[in-house]
Amino acid sequence: MNQKFAGVKGMNDLLPGEIEIWQHVESTAHAVLARYGYSEVRTPVVEDTALFVRSVGETTDIVGKEMYTFDDKAGRSLTLRPEGTAPAARAYIEHSVQNLEPVSRWYYVGPMFRYERMKTGRYRQFFQLGVEAYGIAEPAEDVEQMELVTHLLARLGLTGVSLNLNSLGDDACRPEYQKKLVGYLEAHREALCAECKERLTRNPLRVLDCKNERCQEIARGAPSILEMLCQPCQAHFAEVQRLLGVLRVPYVLNPRLVRGLDYYTRTAFELVAADPVLGTASAVGGGGRYDKLVESLGGSAVPAVGFALGLDRLCLLAKAAGQVPTGRPELFVVTVGPAARDRALELATGLRHAGHRVELDARGGSVKSQMKRADKSAATYALVLGDQELAEGVAQLKPMAGGEPVRVALDRLEATLTELKQS
Ligand code: HAM
Repeated sequence: MNQKFAGVKGMNDLLPGEIEIWQHVESTAHAVLARYGYSEVRTPVVEDTALFVRSVGETTDIVGKEMYTFDDKAGRSLTLRPEGTAPAARAYIEHSVQNLEPVSRWYYVGPMFRYERMKTGRYRQFFQLGVEAYGIAEPAEDVEQMELVTHLLARLGLTGVSLNLNSLGDDACRPEYQKKLVGYLEAHREALCAECKERLTRNPLRVLDCKNERCQEIARGAPSILEMLCQPCQAHFAEVQRLLGVLRVPYVLNPRLVRGLDYYTRTAFELVAADPVLGTASAVGGGGRYDKLVESLGGSAVPAVGFALGLDRLCLLAKAAGQVPTGRPELFVVTVGPAARDRALELATGLRHAGHRVELDARGGSVKSQMKRADKSAATYALVLGDQELAEGVAQLKPMAGGEPVRVALDRLEATLTELKQS
């Protein structure tokens, strides 16, 4: 027996029946993003490994444990991108985009790769819609993005998603906060989970994000970063909140919100849905400001802000919310005999060129079996074409959901279908 293959663990196939919801989510996103002045970019799925180490951060779980890294035949260390912000920044710098325009608004849709422990909503290949704006340091840009994502989720009919907001400070105030946090956590070291004991030295802020219940309880008593922001960070954060109020974007202040990537400064946000279809993978998106990243990767000092939505999770939510678009044909042509089949092919081709969705089945067979297939295709109408219909130039359009058939002249079929679609 020939060997059968299975897909790689944690990497999914998207087949008809499921792909429609993805297309719906993506086309809604393309339309919304265009209105906010964003243009799509496409970068390769592999990058120099050092790009992610330098930007996402050596002590993060992503770089420490989750990257798909390999040497190519010339011995270069390459990595399947675990996220899209660093690749976009790399492209922005490489093409000197800051010399062409003061402000750039980019977005991308594509697969990302993280070797994570799998569960519902968490995969090893997953898709992100990423949104990045370069060149604006003002809080209004952070708010514009948070409003954009709130609007996009509403357009998708996803009402149960809440926007969590925090500020992570900057180089002037975060080190002080980190010192104070470590002091507090050291006092509770024994009660922390094994992983957090390690985080305490490697990446103490991440302890605030641990899912372990005892760690969460300790995190609840931890000092808040919002009380230790320097004056400029405080002013930025106050303005972000004021403008969210102006635009009436609802949000929840969460001083324990930290991100799994190291490049953020000031504003950080996450979109969280407490929906059972996601299991514990409740974050549908996240992002924030990263004013130092472009410079740290060798570019000019260009401020930036961005976020990414997890499309796999978004599609799970959209499906559960009943947002499943149907891909039904308007017409299924049933044929009797070879002459009718030729004519049906001709008719179907003409109708498709005119913009209609039409199916027929080249296998032919009895009218009964073809009508069964028409039913299964969920077509709106079936048209039976035999020698008599060909001779008269007239056939019956049969509504598949029941109701009176419509007599139609074959040379008026296109016009009739268009009229029926509009009525
Ligand atoms: P992130 O929070 O690591 O941020 O990922 C963004 C979203 O991707 C998550 O909220 C989640 O919905 C989805 N996601 C992450 N890992 C997985 C997984 N293993 N399976 C399924 N979905 C997943 C970033 O990646 C940043 N680059 C976002 C950003 C853009 N910040 C600024 N600009």
